[in-house]
Amino acid sequence: MKEKNGPTPGFHMAFEDSSDRVPVLLIHGFPLNNMMWDLQVGDLSDVARLISPDLRGHGMSDPTQPPYSVGMFAEDCAALLDQLGITVPIVVAGHSMGGYVAFEFCRRYPERVAGLILVSTRAGDDSAETKAARDKSAGVAIAQGVEPIAEGMLPKLLAPENFAAEVDLVDFARDMMIETSVEGVVGALAAMRDRPDSTPDLPGLDVPTLILHGEEDQLIPLAEAEAMAAAMPQARLVIVPEAGHLPSLENPEVFNEALREFLEIFYEE
Ligand code: MLT
Repeated sequence: MKEKNGPTPGFHMAFEDSSDRVPVLLIHGFPLNNMMWDLQVGDLSDVARLISPDLRGHGMSDPTQPPYSVGMFAEDCAALLDQLGITVPIVVAGHSMGGYVAFEFCRRYPERVAGLILVSTRAGDDSAETKAARDKSAGVAIAQGVEPIAEGMLPKLLAPENFAAEVDLVDFARDMMIETSVEGVVGALAAMRDRPDSTPDLPGLDVPTLILHGEEDQLIPLAEAEAMAAAMPQARLVIVPEAGHLPSLENPEVFNEALREFLEIFYEE
């Protein structure tokens, strides 16, 4: 909203205020931080009020003692909205683990959700095999630090061509991961391991929903996104080409265009 107003008589000060735009809560994935949304925050502030927290133990947020849970993450997000005085329904956007948190936020605060953006995520819970792998990874993080976790994930995080050619992007993703605290990694692994199955919720999530998924995601198969889109009453799936598990960074042009088009519906009469 462009304004011209005068705090002082005879003087008109022009200013921008995004408080009339739909608030969008951008929840990052594991073991990342809010820098994964840098290219959206920079580009989309004219259509949304973008709020991108670092989950506890990640980025600049405090590393409290694990274990964490998706409920704890969802409550942290709700408390942040309260602190910012945001009482209107918002669009909740979650990337991968952030999507698991978004589903939990919807269960706890359905009245606060005007729309959903689900990025590179899935509705289902962990298999016994995946739960065991989470515990093994937590043991590695405790014994050796976060670096082996980051190095193990990195080749699967990006599309193979991007991993091979986009040196700056690979470094950016690695830096985000190795900045995560051991507490954050161990806590988030427990949160993901113990999260409930959100599949039964999908038909009841009757809000405008955008699902974005990298065509070459090696961590969560595209079929998971297709299944979510089919089960949700108001979902639209956009498959992001030339992108793996991090489409917001790998193909920001296509990603942001889809986001912009989606967010504009919140201004239609
Ligand atoms: C993520 O990207 O947040 C995680 O890889 C998701 C998961 O491990 O289930």
